[in-house]
Amino acid sequence: MTTTEHQSASPTSPSDAVTAGAHATESARSGLSNLRGPGSGEVDQQRIATVVGAALEGIRAAIREHEVTYEEFDAFKRWLIAVSDTGEWPLFLDVYLEHEVEKVAAKRQQGSVGTILGPFWLDGQVQLDTPATLPMRDDEPGTPMILAGQVTATDGTPLAGATVDIWHTDDEGWYSGFASKPPAGNLRGVVRCDDQGRFEIHTRKPAPYTIPLDGPTGQLTQAAGWSPWRPAHIHLLVAAPGHRTLTSQLFFTGDPYLGNDVASADKPELTLDPQPTGRGDEIRADRDFVLEPGSDD
Ligand code: DHB
Ligand code: FE
Repeated sequence: MTTTEHQSASPTSPSDAVTAGAHATESARSGLSNLRGPGSGEVDQQRIATVVGAALEGIRAAIREHEVTYEEFDAFKRWLIAVSDTGEWPLFLDVYLEHEVEKVAAKRQQGSVGTILGPFWLDGQVQLDTPATLPMRDDEPGTPMILAGQVTATDGTPLAGATVDIWHTDDEGWYSGFASKPPAGNLRGVVRCDDQGRFEIHTRKPAPYTIPLDGPTGQLTQAAGWSPWRPAHIHLLVAAPGHRTLTSQLFFTGDPYLGNDVASADKPELTLDPQPTGRGDEIRADRDFVLEPGSDD
């Protein structure tokens, strides 16, 4: 299957954007506070005035500079309402803004390079011991792929007790839990490493992905003539007691959408070059992760 034949050409159901948006909103409400903590809840008036003031002034400057009309202002209002109605705020924010927040955070971080979480992580997936095969259908399409490696501390110590939470699309670009086609939990799992921090995960190579085209985020993207594609990627949360959890994604050499990711989340350090194992069409990529000391909650 070529990438142009994938999900965007034949949506499983017209309601997939609304389904994906609503589920992403629910996951952002419940799951994110488990992952990154509930936040202090404190209101810092100076910080709000500075950051929100700068953001509003950016919009006012665009209105002045480009002489925005009432017709355009009204269209903007309707679009914002549609983003709320479809629950697409997590999708929109993670595509167009999260990468900047991630780069700010990365300036203070050591260990392996990370990237954005995105809207499609789900808490509480099946736990598996390495070597692990992710939950998949009997006839799961796509190239069989092994991702293997070791989790260590910044001083090289292997991290016993490390886990690799992994999720990615199927061979047609659909995420389980968000699109209607794959069953719940498909191609998602939390893999417990061995006592040397090693993991070996058997899965299928994911496909390039377009953000949902039938919702307001996709409509805006297409109306502006921007590409809605993300290069194929595997999402990971690599965790170990006493260490900061690494949020990352891995991409594939030769992917036509590398360098033109709608979510601006690809980085050269995150590209895999899987090689044939000689068993059928199976491929394998090796990737180690280094975690810095820190809080693991
Ligand atoms: C979106 C999808 C992703 O797979 C991702 O990693 C980031 C954003 C999205 O559709 O918004
Ligand atoms: Fe993704």
